[in-house]
Amino acid sequence: MPLLTKSIKGTQDVLPQESHKWRYLEQSALEVAENFGFREVRTPVFEHTELFQRGVGDTTDVVQKEMYTFLDKGERSITLRPEGTAGVVRSFLEHGLFNEPMPQKLCYLTSCYRYEKPQAGRLREFHQFGVECFGTADPAADAEIIALAKQYFDFLGVRDLRLELNSIGCKECRKDYHKALHDYFSARKDKLCPTCVERLDRNPMRILDCKVPACGEIAADAPKVTDYLCDDCRAHFEQVQKYLGAMDIPFTVNPSIVRGLDYYSRTVFEFVSSSIGAQGTVCGGGRYDGLAEELGGPHTPALGFALGLERLMLLMESQGLPFPEAETCSLYIASMGEAAAQKAAELVCALRRDGIHAEFDVVGRSVKAQMKFANKLGADFTLVLGDSELESGKAVLKNMKSGETTDVELASFPGDFMRISISESLKTLEDLGVDTNIDLNALFYNND
Ligand code: HAM
Repeated sequence: MPLLTKSIKGTQDVLPQESHKWRYLEQSALEVAENFGFREVRTPVFEHTELFQRGVGDTTDVVQKEMYTFLDKGERSITLRPEGTAGVVRSFLEHGLFNEPMPQKLCYLTSCYRYEKPQAGRLREFHQFGVECFGTADPAADAEIIALAKQYFDFLGVRDLRLELNSIGCKECRKDYHKALHDYFSARKDKLCPTCVERLDRNPMRILDCKVPACGEIAADAPKVTDYLCDDCRAHFEQVQKYLGAMDIPFTVNPSIVRGLDYYSRTVFEFVSSSIGAQGTVCGGGRYDGLAEELGGPHTPALGFALGLERLMLLMESQGLPFPEAETCSLYIASMGEAAAQKAAELVCALRRDGIHAEFDVVGRSVKAQMKFANKLGADFTLVLGDSELESGKAVLKNMKSGETTDVELASFPGDFMRISISESLKTLEDLGVDTNIDLNALFYNND
């Protein structure tokens, strides 16, 4: 019979062979963020639709074309989050975090949903690592979050990412810019897609990030926002660049970066790679000084970024970067007969309580088949228990890599096994040239 159904287009399963890689990306992201003072926040996967309409902006591609929106059973319009910022700002306001000392630095790992045409690096369900920093308009904060993203990429060993930087000014200096864009696009109105014609009067900046190729070609020669910055925005942008210089972070100013979401003001930036195809923007972010107010809260200058984990994974794989090995089984205890099987279960439980990955037979296989399975698991050590081992209280521990065997007393088993397995790990470290001066006997037997 064929499968009833398959996964939805634009979604991905992460199988056990791969999940340790994801865990590595996620854990290291949180660790780097913690070193910068960011604490994790978790918000719901769905929100009231108006949050994104107001927050992300109802003239954006994301809101107009890409949201997964539905009525729930109470006839409320609900949307699966297309991005993380709006929900985090809602949460920041709802829980009064603006009363806490500023800046409030929050970070998150989330799934996001956008109904886009799937291709390499573009999915309908994707995952972001993001940070949001509230309560500071200072350009040092802009440089700080950029430094965070850079440090994460450096930690992972990612190469060849360009940092592209721009300022799109504030509401005031954007009035003149909108007029210049309106004039430019009006003269070319007949070549724009219908959505962009509609955007012309409502928000001509959104034409700049339309994905329709004809609109993109026209947008390439449109007036540049950097020519319309007011004195304050220009000074802010210069300060951001000075801080980046002080932090030794290379960047290029790219006046065509405006980002596809409405909430941005002043600094915007992207980390872009040329080695993963058309979807090369791995990370994007910027300031959104007016968003908290737009959502009904107090004026709170803020900024952040989000980094697409699928694109990061593609990039790391294209560069052949290392991931830590998946954790394997330390010890497989094979057994012959009912009494030995119960002893194996007892020993494995004791080992697991001590934090060791140990396994025993739960399928009812022959000893030969159990050993074959232990091999497949990649177990570091095996031990076979039968009637004679139970009688003598002794068994033979086999190191599966070297083939070496050691006699062990079952009575002192968890402790003995840990000593042997740690000394094996130390040997490996010594082979790698690491100085490992640890007295294992003192560690295990003299702990008073
Ligand atoms: P964004 O540029 O829409 O910004 O998305 C950030 C990152 O998410 C992109 O650079 C990309 O790596 C990844 N991404 C976006 N769409 C897809 C997709 N369909 N498939 C795979 N990956 C994708 C935001 O979401 C803002 N909330 C960032 C931000 C935070 N700005 C301030 N704070």
